[in-house]
Amino acid sequence: MKLFSPAKINLFLRVLKKREDGYHELASLFQAVSLGDTLHFSLSETDHFTCNDPLIPTGADNLIWKAVALFRKKTALSFGLTVHLDKKIPMQAGIGGGSSNAATTLWALNELHGKPASRQLLQQWAEEIGSDVSFFFSQGTAYCTGRGEKVQNLKPLQGNLWLVKPAEGLSTPLIFKNLDLKSCAPDDPLELLKQERFFLNDLEEPAFKVMPSLMELKKELLSQGFSAVCLTGSGTGILCQGLQAPCVRLPTVAYPLTFVSREEKAWYNALS
Ligand code: C5P
Repeated sequence: MKLFSPAKINLFLRVLKKREDGYHELASLFQAVSLGDTLHFSLSETDHFTCNDPLIPTGADNLIWKAVALFRKKTALSFGLTVHLDKKIPMQAGIGGGSSNAATTLWALNELHGKPASRQLLQQWAEEIGSDVSFFFSQGTAYCTGRGEKVQNLKPLQGNLWLVKPAEGLSTPLIFKNLDLKSCAPDDPLELLKQERFFLNDLEEPAFKVMPSLMELKKELLSQGFSAVCLTGSGTGILCQGLQAPCVRLPTVAYPLTFVSREEKAWYNALS
């Protein structure tokens, strides 16, 4: 079984408060995009994992194997799985590559076993893997709250953006640790949603504090004439709105993004 595993972007991301459990309460508009990995799955005698990118961890830490372990625990099914991951989503970009792979794995395992779980149940199980995993069971455009796992499916949005990704990555926990809640935007996220006011991210300030070169990159992109330039997730990916391609120098890479959605009973497709 071959499945596309899309990345996500945050069209806006507001952090509302710090919770007792250490997580932060978010309100964010998530969108699935055409930049994605391809995953190949087959049931086998034992577990086996290969990947085109030697930097990807292959062990139990990889969210793909966390999804496999969770599916085994929830269903009590016993099986071996062979997985090949064709990685295109850059790591530590704030675009949910690992989370998407985990969601795609849950979906694939459910299909390969004759659909023992409903889509809703898979989405609920996904919360146990990470805050962003449940989003990928939406239809591609969703308003996410709680720690990100409360997903309200919205009418699909259409759009095209650029993602600029410098070589360095950022760790999500480090960015949340550097967040100063007092300097977060006052805007009501429901108003942002209603008025389609995008490109506001409360994680931008702590990301710029931890990596000042990222703020320089934003300034440089703004000087190139984009109508909006904004960090996605906890970075280091930067979204740019505009028709012309961003002018960047290697190792920084610019990726064109198209918004994608899926039918209710199908998984996401790669755009050809
Ligand atoms: O849920 P996930 O494992 O993806 O989160 C990684 C880390 O990011 C958490 O351990 C926490 O430090 C931070 N985080 C947060 N608030 C959220 C989501 C993530 O503080 N809503």
